[in-house]
Amino acid sequence: MAKPKILVTHSLFEEARKLLDAACDAEYIADPERPARADVLRRLKDKEGLVCLLTEKVNEELLRAAPKLRIAANVAVGYDNIDVPACTKQGVVATNTPGVLDETTADFAWTLLMAVARRIGEGELLARSGNWKGWNLDQLCGTDVWGKTLGIVGFGRIGRAVARRALGFQMSVIYTDAVRAPEDKEKAVSAEFRDMNTLLAESDFISLHVPLLAETRGLFDGPKFYRMKPGAYLINTSRGPVVDEAALVAALENKKIAGAALDVYENEPFIHPGLKRPNVVLAPHLASASIETRTKMAVMAVTNVLGLFKGQRPPNMINPEVLKKA
Ligand code: DGY
Repeated sequence: MAKPKILVTHSLFEEARKLLDAACDAEYIADPERPARADVLRRLKDKEGLVCLLTEKVNEELLRAAPKLRIAANVAVGYDNIDVPACTKQGVVATNTPGVLDETTADFAWTLLMAVARRIGEGELLARSGNWKGWNLDQLCGTDVWGKTLGIVGFGRIGRAVARRALGFQMSVIYTDAVRAPEDKEKAVSAEFRDMNTLLAESDFISLHVPLLAETRGLFDGPKFYRMKPGAYLINTSRGPVVDEAALVAALENKKIAGAALDVYENEPFIHPGLKRPNVVLAPHLASASIETRTKMAVMAVTNVLGLFKGQRPPNMINPEVLKKA
């Protein structure tokens, strides 16, 4: 029997590639940067499966170019790049990679939090510059992290993993979410629920962990920054469009908040020039980027593809109704 034809829009970690190649006829786009959209669409013509990154829009245009497509496997937990209703309409299973990146992403939210609070970006530049004149009492003083209040917006798996780490820093942890979490989940990380406005007013550090949805697009806008505690910091490892970048820049310019640490941007890879300031730490969407975790994500995406072509239900379906209908 002919092996299913799969397009992979990027190189894969060896472990994932071996798994895929053993069962499928996989074509890889080896472009070190980004495959041209036209190239992706052209190659999809005869493909039954797609393994893609969050930078690939799986929308009606792509689905039209892929009449044989049965699965689009995102190598990411967030799937705002996928038009799920359009996939469902065309009978295409969409999958993501939940669970495997929670702890690694939480580590990175903390990396950013510590970096902005303790001014490590500025310190590193000074240490490398050749202009450091030695220790000084008031040199690059940041702010304490321990003992402060951490506000988590979005108390899902990643938000809770970030909260858990705060215990070691003797912080008070508060959170907000559309729905209050069950008591055992709150107790496990000693977190207390607050409505959004109270969280804004009480938090010294706010870390965002919501998916990008219609309701969360532009969630952090001018009025939210206005309500933040003066001198607080914003950390974003969720999705860029959750923050209105122009409003964030205004809040930084007006010294309404003390700083920000960002891994994600409204229009990646473009970064608003107003964010390139000393009190903002900038990372290029790295939160899940450990070899261990990215390998697990790739293997998970491949496992979803393999499951479908073995006649099973892929473990991480976003639109399970596609298979129910069949
Ligand atoms: C995701 O998985 O959604 C991240 O943004 C990349 O790890």
